[in-house]
Amino acid sequence: MAEKMDKIISLAKRRGFIFPSSEIYGGFGGVYDFGPLGFELKQNIKEVWLRTMKSQENIVPLDSAILMNPKVWQASGHLTAGFADELVECKSCHKRFKTDEIKGNKCPECGGEITKPKKFNLMMKTFVGAVEDEAAVTYLRGETCQGIYVNYLNILNLMRLKIPFGVIQIGKAFRNEVNPKNFIFRTREFEQMEMEWFCESKEAAHFFDFWKEQRMKWYEDLGMKKENLRIVEIPEGKRAHYAKKQIDIEYHFPFGWKEIEGIHNRGDFDLSNHAKHSGEDLRYFDEESGQKYFPHIIETSVGVERALFAFFCDAYQEIKGGRTKTTKAVKEVEILLKLDKSLAPIKVAVLPLVRNKPKLVKKAKEVYQMLKPHFTCQYDELGSIGRRYRRGDEIGTIAAITIDFETLEKEDVTIRDRDSMAQKRIKIKDLTKTLKEKLKA
Ligand code: GAP
Repeated sequence: MAEKMDKIISLAKRRGFIFPSSEIYGGFGGVYDFGPLGFELKQNIKEVWLRTMKSQENIVPLDSAILMNPKVWQASGHLTAGFADELVECKSCHKRFKTDEIKGNKCPECGGEITKPKKFNLMMKTFVGAVEDEAAVTYLRGETCQGIYVNYLNILNLMRLKIPFGVIQIGKAFRNEVNPKNFIFRTREFEQMEMEWFCESKEAAHFFDFWKEQRMKWYEDLGMKKENLRIVEIPEGKRAHYAKKQIDIEYHFPFGWKEIEGIHNRGDFDLSNHAKHSGEDLRYFDEESGQKYFPHIIETSVGVERALFAFFCDAYQEIKGGRTKTTKAVKEVEILLKLDKSLAPIKVAVLPLVRNKPKLVKKAKEVYQMLKPHFTCQYDELGSIGRRYRRGDEIGTIAAITIDFETLEKEDVTIRDRDSMAQKRIKIKDLTKTLKEKLKA
């Protein structure tokens, strides 16, 4: 399993998906950069999430700031022990571990004696303005949803919404994780895609189940294998400090079952606390009953990078020989990144059969320029055509277009399908339409 992780990490680096942050300075713990292909994959995940969410009734988007008044974090409970990891430190090697990662009372690295557990708050502190004193302290947001709660009244009134409704947001969140690990699984800077659903308390249980099903369906519709997904109900005592009910959607990573998304019934915890701390009346006025009440909140929250990691692991396949027909390739292991067509970072590769024939190269570049405005395309002329197909398969490219000598006479090209490897000829004039049809979500 460690071997599979190594291969996945190596592919992600080698093919320009993910780089350690500030690599030329030796990296920076728990922070990663997304290269050209990682950017595309991340972007596609966010777009599909937005599209899916917006297809529901009564959902509006928001883009709130990362920096907020520090009172927000007092009201939300994030500055207390509720948003803290319990840590122990090894007295010999001084490495720190989350208490729940330790079995027994010895350091898992060197066997040394460990200290008593201590709470460590996860909020990332910063200073605003010129003076670095306590009055200037604020925090990089630890979850994006707080921006939604503090804008709840604006959105409700200005968008003339009625309960139930939802607000969605995608944005950066920061946590001073003490022990970031498992590549991009747990990092200090990440993006969240959150949906906050405001509803009557008596409908909260119904909407909790509704959103749970919707979110599981999202992963399955995007091709994630059912056997690698499961739902785990989190018992009282282990839940987030704001959650009355909580389930985690877990994915079976090479390093075990781990949470990729949390679904929470936050009750009226957030709105009632923000009302108390801000002095604003955040209750909803129900015109029909004439009653005022705090709406309850059902939340779905997923890290973009965690989802990306799960999609990446799920799509990763090694095929021993067989796929490519050339005898040389048969013994080799081929990698196929079988990402859903809506997620694949590169949709179309344009390949001249050989690169030392100027007429072929010229035609291939014309085809590439024709397709570029419509699809994320890559032009590749280096190496044998078989090798180039495999390079495309490795990053999940859906279609490879080959320009050969027949193209010059007949104005047609071959399209090779990533999964079936079937090839068919198609007129250049019909190519854009055919590809649009093939890539339709
Ligand atoms: N607003 C609710 C909330 O933030 P959470 O369970 O703490 O809930 C939600 O986080 C999701 O955010 C997680 O399921 C995970 O996908 C992602 N996430 C949380 N901490 C993360 C970290 N340190 N690195 C990467 N992703 C993280």
